Amino acid sequence: MKGGDFLKEVLIRANIVEVLSDYISIKRRGKNYVAICPFHYEKKPSFTVSPDKGLYYCFGCGKGGNVLKFLQDYKGMEFKEAVVELAERYGIEVPASFHSSELNAKKEEKARIFEINQEAQRYWSKNLHSTGGSSAMEHLKGRGLNEIDIKAWKLGYAKKSENSLLNYLLSKGFKEEEILKAGLATKYDSSLKDLFRDRIIFPIMDEKSRIIGFAGRSLHGEEPKYLNSPETSVYKKTWTLFGIDKAWEEIKREGFVVIVEGYMDVIKLQKNGIKNVVATSGTALTEQHLRVLKKLTEKILLMFDGDEGGRNATFRAIETFLKVDLIPFCVFLPDGYDPDEFINEKGTPALKSLLSSPRDLIEVFIEEKARNISDIRTKRRRIEEVLSILKIENPIEKEHYMEILKEKFSISKVLLKEIEMGEEKSNFTSPRNESKLSTVEVKLIKILLKSREMCDEKELMECMNGFSESTRIFIESFLKGCSIEECIQNLSENGHDPSPFISVIMDETPVYGNESEIFRNCLFAIRRKRIEEETRRLQHEIERYGKDVPPELIKKKEELIKSLKIIKKGEM
Ligand code: UTP
Ligand code: MN
Repeated sequence: MKGGDFLKEVLIRANIVEVLSDYISIKRRGKNYVAICPFHYEKKPSFTVSPDKGLYYCFGCGKGGNVLKFLQDYKGMEFKEAVVELAERYGIEVPASFHSSELNAKKEEKARIFEINQEAQRYWSKNLHSTGGSSAMEHLKGRGLNEIDIKAWKLGYAKKSENSLLNYLLSKGFKEEEILKAGLATKYDSSLKDLFRDRIIFPIMDEKSRIIGFAGRSLHGEEPKYLNSPETSVYKKTWTLFGIDKAWEEIKREGFVVIVEGYMDVIKLQKNGIKNVVATSGTALTEQHLRVLKKLTEKILLMFDGDEGGRNATFRAIETFLKVDLIPFCVFLPDGYDPDEFINEKGTPALKSLLSSPRDLIEVFIEEKARNISDIRTKRRRIEEVLSILKIENPIEKEHYMEILKEKFSISKVLLKEIEMGEEKSNFTSPRNESKLSTVEVKLIKILLKSREMCDEKELMECMNGFSESTRIFIESFLKGCSIEECIQNLSENGHDPSPFISVIMDETPVYGNESEIFRNCLFAIRRKRIEEETRRLQHEIERYGKDVPPELIKKKEELIKSLKIIKKGEM
């Protein structure tokens, strides 16, 4: 298969709705799909996906493209990386010629990091069981973990020395540069030092149980308490859920997942038979975390400390949940306890009983905000705060929460409507990405796409040099028989921004009037514009000559004016 054929095959087979659904929640609306735009902040969905055209476009911010562009923009992938990802997903063989050297290099780097991580884990595990690791071992045993747990979680100990791991890895044949890329060493002046020193090591694994990074806990109160690996090409904090490989099947079986804050909490709950549990790793909860979990279940419980900090942390998560169309649930532990400590003191049955009656976090939030309102200004602020967070699209869910809000704040339905109307007005955003195409170009493209048979291709080709380069590429691709998606692809490949074209393609408002007449007039307008420009240029040249204007220039100008007259007549 040639390179071009391969790309074509990928674009044909990849289903844009299917692929985008992995990352954002999209809903059917007529023949298209809509979603809350992942690229800008909005309340009402203006992000549109057309399965027929194979394109998405946001009428709010103007971002758009095909499925490849989405993977590039959303996941930050390289073009070729995105193509290969889709090809693999749809079982299309990637031709050897397509594998660029950079792509291979990237793949190799990832494989190498997995190897280094595995070797580092082996080393640290040995340390933990040696005499040097005795205080780390004591800490773990003191927290109730046994040899089975230590093995299951691949725990280890990093020595105090400055570069024991580094030397070990170098002796195993890894290069300094690779160790740096794996995030296991840092540069001090010109020499390298181990990142983790005198810390208990918690390997972080992906859903396939591959070690992607590490967290190291200090033993004697040094800050930070937990040090995490930096992001590498295999460790992306926004996607990573600690414990996901062990929890995966359990989440599906139990029908819900519990999110806790700490690494130790995950381990402790797992050990005590609550296995559908994960924690974020080195970052707050993100949309991506929720999207990973949403594939397994819609019921997601946050189990946080019941103190003010813990409650506020859960409230901050509400918006993130709503963005991915999920309702958050919560379980609050008594003040000052984390799940690990709660199990130690009250036992597993007590924790299980808490988990059996989770609360709707949005309800808790509204209740909390309605409490202790001393004056009318506070009341107004609190209601505004709640409304600014509750961006719920589904009318059934929306009414449910508005009813609660109305009740808890004792306000009338009429008032609530009024507030909401005011909000909507102030939140209106117009497309930032104004179309860079002229009205004539827009009309012409619309007619061409809708009723190609009405368009005289020969005449169109004759006008080609009156268009901007991007329009030319688009029209030529289309006339050559490329699908719309391919036309867009050709634009990107030639370094042009395809969004003005996508905006035209996705805009369903028709061109009013007789199509073939409008088409002809568009061509006239383009020719006229070109001739007018040329005349102007000629005029400048003539003026520069002063007295001795070469006669051929005068003649050329006269010809231009004549053809302009003919065109104007034709236009009428
Ligand atoms: P906590 O400070 O509550 O620690 O941090 P913990 O989980 O109870 O730790 P133990 O029980 O004393 O061992 C909760 C989580 O926040 C992240 C870690 O993921 C930790 O598990 N964290 C905390 C960091 O990433 N860095 C820090 O310095 C502290
Ligand atoms: Mn703890």
